[in-house]
Amino acid sequence: MVMAEPREYTAAEKAAIQATFPAPFNTADLEAGEKQFNKCRACHTITPDGMNMTGPHLYGVFGRHSATAKGYTYSDAMMKHNVTWDFKTLDVYLAAPQEVVKGTKMGFMGLPNETDRHNLIAYLALETQPHDAAAVASASASK
Ligand code: HEC
Repeated sequence: MVMAEPREYTAAEKAAIQATFPAPFNTADLEAGEKQFNKCRACHTITPDGMNMTGPHLYGVFGRHSATAKGYTYSDAMMKHNVTWDFKTLDVYLAAPQEVVKGTKMGFMGLPNETDRHNLIAYLALETQPHDAAAVASASASK
């Protein structure tokens, strides 16, 4: 499979894509979200190569069913957590992973601060999807 070369978005492209996100993610602070992602980087990649580390890769996580990253061995708890990852389900999970998925092997306490979480999820929504001209065009068209 040939991957489109990842590229940096321009500020205008970012704004067009973010405008398609549901509230409050459409007005979240993407730069602050990138900083929050530093808490996840030790265990998760968000690049198109889809490499698993301690945790499963998160590229393409929006719209992906829980516990389905290729080549990753999940806990039984996550295997039973039957959700499709989206703004809402990520928001619930990341607030308190160990409470929401009892027995998860994700060794992270979560992001109890709502603003931090919303910023992070908006950043993930932007970065875990292909950076290609088609994504930008469809975001611009839906305005
Ligand atoms: C110490 C390592 C570690 C950190 C830090 C961590 N995770 Fe995880 N994450 C994991 C592991 C391990 C799993 C697999 C959980 C299981 O199978 O129970 C996981 C699972 C997930 C899943 C479910 C993925 C799927 O394919 O169903 C999401 C989403 C996720 N993590 C997001 C995050 C985000 C966002 C952060 C940062 C705020 C984060 N994680 C921080 C280790 C980590």
